[in-house]
Amino acid sequence: TEGMRELLLSRIRDVSDYPQPGVMFKDITPLLADPAAFTALTDALAGVCARHGATKVVGLEARGFILAAPVAVRAGLGFIPVRKAGKLPGATLSQAYELEYGTAEIEIHAEDLGGGDRVMVIDDVLATGGTAEASLELIRRAGAEVAGVAILMELGFLGGRARLEPALQGAPLEALLTV
Ligand code: PRP
Ligand code: MG
Repeated sequence: TEGMRELLLSRIRDVSDYPQPGVMFKDITPLLADPAAFTALTDALAGVCARHGATKVVGLEARGFILAAPVAVRAGLGFIPVRKAGKLPGATLSQAYELEYGTAEIEIHAEDLGGGDRVMVIDDVLATGGTAEASLELIRRAGAEVAGVAILMELGFLGGRARLEPALQGAPLEALLTV
């Protein structure tokens, strides 16, 4: 609802010139500290999972974990972490992706997903789309289907939606807020 979106937006703090000059950082910590807002966010994202028939929730380290874990519990679904490289002890699949400067790598436990799974990816912010795109590669390489990507806030001016489009293969990208 519009009231829910206004509540969420009012709890996201703009921090200018962080982490670098010229960047406007979207700080979600005021939202997390407000139980009404955090509950509204969790319920909204759990609703996205239900609407699209997700069977598993993937959260993207680190800020995506904070949102995806309560969503998984709320939706009655398993939570699976996609971690930055080198943090998972078992057999992993790895995917490199481009950053503004250089590359990064994320990983998933290969055994956590399989043929019958429909996975909803949850994160706080969609910027260039690189992180989400890499996560979709991991999910498909693990043999699972992508139910969609659900994001708190899309930074429309960075073109992440267009970049992500081919990797979505028709699955939905749902952003609760777009700025
Ligand atoms: C941030 C944000 C998203 C990602 C979006 O994470 O939480 O995960 O960037 O950027 P992109 O669309 O250009 O890939 P970041 O890796 O900065 O750090 P975090 O560990 O604090 O989540
Ligand atoms: Mg992140």
